[in-house]
Amino acid sequence: MLLCALATVVASAPAHAADRPQPGSVYRDGPSGRYLLGGTWYQRPDAADTGIRERFQRSPGLAGWTRTSVPSASNAGVFTNESYLGTVHWYRKDFRLPRASRLSKWVLRFESVNYRARVWLNGKPIGTHVGAYLPFELRAKSVRRRGVNRLVVRVDSRRQKFDIPPLSQRASGAFEGGWWNYNGILREVYLRRVDQFDFAQVFFEPRLRCRTCAATVVVHAQVANVNSSGASARISGTFGGRALRFRGHRVPGRGTARFRARTRIRNPRLWSPERPTLYRGTLRLRTSGGRTVQRYRVHTGIRSLRISRLGRIQLNGRDVNLRGASMHEDSLSRGAALTPTQMRQNIGYLRELGATITRSHYPFHPYTLELADRHGILVWSEIPVFRMASRLFANGEVRNKALRMLRTEIARDANHPSVAVWSIGNENASRPGTGLRKYIRKASRTVEDLDPTRLVGIATSGFPTVQKQRIYTELDVLGINDYFGWYRGPRGTISDRNLLSGYLNRLHSDYPNQALVITEFGAEANRSGPVTEKGTYEFQTDFLRYHLGVFASKPFVSGALIWNLRDFRVKPGWAGGNPQPNPPVNQKGLVDDRGGKKPAWEVVRKIYRSTGPFR
Ligand code: GCU
Repeated sequence: MLLCALATVVASAPAHAADRPQPGSVYRDGPSGRYLLGGTWYQRPDAADTGIRERFQRSPGLAGWTRTSVPSASNAGVFTNESYLGTVHWYRKDFRLPRASRLSKWVLRFESVNYRARVWLNGKPIGTHVGAYLPFELRAKSVRRRGVNRLVVRVDSRRQKFDIPPLSQRASGAFEGGWWNYNGILREVYLRRVDQFDFAQVFFEPRLRCRTCAATVVVHAQVANVNSSGASARISGTFGGRALRFRGHRVPGRGTARFRARTRIRNPRLWSPERPTLYRGTLRLRTSGGRTVQRYRVHTGIRSLRISRLGRIQLNGRDVNLRGASMHEDSLSRGAALTPTQMRQNIGYLRELGATITRSHYPFHPYTLELADRHGILVWSEIPVFRMASRLFANGEVRNKALRMLRTEIARDANHPSVAVWSIGNENASRPGTGLRKYIRKASRTVEDLDPTRLVGIATSGFPTVQKQRIYTELDVLGINDYFGWYRGPRGTISDRNLLSGYLNRLHSDYPNQALVITEFGAEANRSGPVTEKGTYEFQTDFLRYHLGVFASKPFVSGALIWNLRDFRVKPGWAGGNPQPNPPVNQKGLVDDRGGKKPAWEVVRKIYRSTGPFR
């Protein structure tokens, strides 16, 4: 009795801006049948009263809800301790299903929700997810084909003990974490139409033995059957205009099957920062009756990445000499919920600077990677295994969680030629204990198994007090965060920048078969003043020029990235080594919050434009 009363109330509820999503996507590559769930969304903070909370999934009214759009960071611009430590926030979206055949099934795809998501559709729970920066999908089982659908998402950005990355306030009152903890649906949401079969994963794997050799592209496609009964599927496709031939396979009900094809390219046009040539790959998925149920599109490149006998990264058989800057998805106005325009702007800055490589502490938005593919900017792609205490790696579940992130990242980004390194973490223990060693070993094997075309690396603090760690010889690349002459380091051992050169020589002799990349070097700058005073523009310029001079003298250094392209928000009380800080902002950027280029910009731009990308 109560339920039908409720159903009547909900059904008759005024459809607030219940639009019909249009076909489309922020980034171009991927499956057909994507509809952007943009337009009007509503949001509201959590309510203390559980009763009220209960009704959030159902209540027709808008009391307490305010209009918004997604992507959204609900605490953008709010830099309180509470905002950083995490809150619960609710999002709601009314929509009508796009017109489609009755055979269609529907999936909701979230590109990134920070941190814990709980999702309801028409009052029914359809699933949960933990972790940001990587996508998750939920079957829209309770979707209505007619009338209004109501999607409600509860977003909890508070962290728990074994979360990756960890975030808390220590007993000392200091805050853990490396960038602002933005709560929200930080990247776009899609409705995906699926009919019988679905491309679960697609990888166009380029194989190139030598620079002038013919290339072979092996296409791996995993197909899922969303129906309960098994059926045969067929795939056809093209790569660079050449036909791809796949053998047909039966896909078990609710199961998956793997398909493969290959094609040979006699004179491949190789992808590199100088000529970021992209090939178009298309796949068509059909039933045994010939009905096309899905298409898939990629723009990918042919290139090879290896470590030479001398421990140097080689792209298409040539030693690289990359220069760049890392970046965070952060803006004063929208927090981490960047718009495509903001992503284009960031890549625009990198191009203007003459950068050939970039990095972040977490997987970038796919659109940023597409732009990097198009503009020839390599990517050190990292999962947010950030400054985690050794005891956490002793926990198998924590290691598995990190490995799951790595697998999800590889599955999502394997077709981007710009992605050169899968980085498995940043600044975890410099002397890895048993747990961390296990993780590094497993992660390195995972990369080898899933993607033999790329390098595996880790970013670690550049401390001369740390002797050779055998476990790092199981990696391809060692990323060094170099703050000689900025931070003191253990027992002041990195206070003197003149020690940098000797330290790098020692590293190279410790790891002759691993490539070295300076994953970070930088100095805060927020005012003009003496070149000897930390925090001044003059100090930053001199610091960067000096470090770049040292790197230029080290043929074994394959690349170097300034920390950071732009100023960004870290955490309450952040000082970052600057005697006159402006918390929570990390001001090691070359570009400040208002888009102003600091004096160091021009000096770096000149150096970058006359460096590399090859030796
Ligand atoms: C570290 C860390 C960054 C941080 C930087 C800094 O190396 O990886 O996330 O912002 O140092 O201190 O500015």
